[in-house]
Amino acid sequence: MTKDDDMNRIFSGIQPSGHLTLGNYLGAIKNWGALQNTHECLFCIVDLHAMTVPQDPQALRQATREVAASFIAAGINPQKSALFVQSHVSGHSELAWILGCFTPLGWLNRMTQFKDKAGKNREHACLGLYAYPVLMAADVLLYKATHVPVGEDQKQHLELARDIAGAFNRHFGVDYFPLPEPLIQGPAPRVMSLRDGTKKMSKSDPSDFSRIHLLDDADSIVLKIRKAKTDPEPLPAEIKDLEHRPEARNLVTIYGALAHKSPQDVLKEFAGASFSIFKPALTEIIVSVLGPIRTETLKLLQDPLMIDACLKEGKERACGLSEKNLSEVHKLVGFLAA
Ligand code: TYM
Repeated sequence: MTKDDDMNRIFSGIQPSGHLTLGNYLGAIKNWGALQNTHECLFCIVDLHAMTVPQDPQALRQATREVAASFIAAGINPQKSALFVQSHVSGHSELAWILGCFTPLGWLNRMTQFKDKAGKNREHACLGLYAYPVLMAADVLLYKATHVPVGEDQKQHLELARDIAGAFNRHFGVDYFPLPEPLIQGPAPRVMSLRDGTKKMSKSDPSDFSRIHLLDDADSIVLKIRKAKTDPEPLPAEIKDLEHRPEARNLVTIYGALAHKSPQDVLKEFAGASFSIFKPALTEIIVSVLGPIRTETLKLLQDPLMIDACLKEGKERACGLSEKNLSEVHKLVGFLAA
């Protein structure tokens, strides 16, 4: 029951709550491919999380396969990594209940995502939305994952997961759960909305023009970038001059992340250029990176049985680990062996 045999295990997840965005790609998926070569990886489609806001059952099923196909198309190798669906492994919900009994309400009350999502309608928000971060802690701790590659928006949830792991360990006087480290990597850990450079690009934004989807075709990308909010100034030569120009900074960051250049190097190339010059270049690079992922995803989606087979294999691998860990947790908390 030590954590030594579980060194360097990666877990991450994405909600199948809509089409994946460029934000999901740059903040998360793009960084996962390389980790498969150095770490044991589990990548999960977190449908239980998606349920915290209303979902159409048919659309949820479709989105779950679509996310799986996009993962594979973007470089996740299901032979190397466990690629699976959260609801297929019942340990997630079970451990969430157990960990919930070690999570003070005060900690949950600080979660900004709940405040943002519940808004003024707090009294009517569901328990699932409130308890969401405990389920997320359970996702990671169920596998005793040590590292969690995510975009910047998930940092607070992971700090909570560390606090919950610490509370559990202290309560039982053990060193059982590793404290998971967030890996906030890559050049674009926070991609912003194309309509408002102060807001995160999100699957749930009501405006489709606020985001690029991984499955957008070239024409949609052209249109969305053409309509992306900017300002009348040309691009500066120095990155510091973008400090108060969030939309311009976001577009430069996206370009750099896709071209493997720093934002400063992007400005070296485009200093003095107007957006009528920069936007077509940005469109071109987005289309050149996302185009092949889109083509491959659509191809994979034509064979749903193959996707389901990959997810089944992933489930089996995930269950192997989760069942072992959960039975150790049962022992620690004092459940009678079944
Ligand atoms: P989700 O589904 O909102 O997003 C999935 C991943 O994409 C990243 N991301 C972004 N990165 C940069 N810029 C953006 N605009 C952007 N939008 C999303 C997210 O940071 C995330 O890494 N709660 C999680 C899912 C989850 C999870 C987990 C993650 C559930 N359990 C356990 C890690 C470990 C979420 O809602 O991600």
